[in-house]
Amino acid sequence: MSDKVRKTIIAGNWKMNKLRKEASELASALVAGTKGKENLPEIVLCPPFTCLDVVVAAAKGSPVKVGAQNVDHRDSGAFTGEIAPPMLVDCGASYVIIGHSERRQFFGETNQTVPLRVKAALNHGLTPIVCVGELLDERENELTDPVVKRQVGAAVTGLTEEEILKLVFAYEPVWAIGTGKVCESKEAARVVALVRSTLKASFQNKETAEQVPVLYGGSMSAKNAEELLAQDEIDGGLIGGASLKADEFLEIINHACKRPRLSATKA
Ligand code: PGA
Repeated sequence: MSDKVRKTIIAGNWKMNKLRKEASELASALVAGTKGKENLPEIVLCPPFTCLDVVVAAAKGSPVKVGAQNVDHRDSGAFTGEIAPPMLVDCGASYVIIGHSERRQFFGETNQTVPLRVKAALNHGLTPIVCVGELLDERENELTDPVVKRQVGAAVTGLTEEEILKLVFAYEPVWAIGTGKVCESKEAARVVALVRSTLKASFQNKETAEQVPVLYGGSMSAKNAEELLAQDEIDGGLIGGASLKADEFLEIINHACKRPRLSATKA
């Protein structure tokens, strides 16, 4: 049995919201609100690219980490409108969301482009938060499991065991994102466990897959966070709407603080 403990992570995905001043104020309020708290989860704020620097400045000297919402897989070049991994590092980001369903739905992200970005992020020391999850009609047609397995398998294409252990996954059922329809906690925990069991194929020692943190995302709020975070399998949340208000996001963080530190491998 391994005594490795999976991190609890509470990440805010601000999407295309906040001007620089607003972003700075929100980040400052969160930093102030988490000061001195015990058993804090890893807190990651993912503002738009244009606010990365002000959020990094607000988080300076605190344990709060900063992430981007997308990244290109190339280091530089004639790719108008893209942002390269070294640019994120230069801004002070340490995480990056990859393969979010909104990127898959509206910006041509696929199971082929996700692994390129994951690899590039890792090469530059960024921690990818890889998003997977089924569409409503896929769920209705009982395709949740094959869709999620395919997305997870694709994301780790070509990665070493050591690299996979640096990833964070987020199970985000697309029908639950921004809709207020949260996935029932037992079902969310089941699919989160499926993400980890899919990763077993990539490890010689299958138990090692238990060390990869997997979050839940999709209408997580101060109201439902406690129940979702009470599931052993769910290591935290990737939170959109409810991360835009300091009070609500701090409430979710408070629920995460109450979570016992779990051993990655159960006896
Ligand atoms: P939501 O978004 O919390 O607003 O549903 C989650 C996400 O898209 O990451």
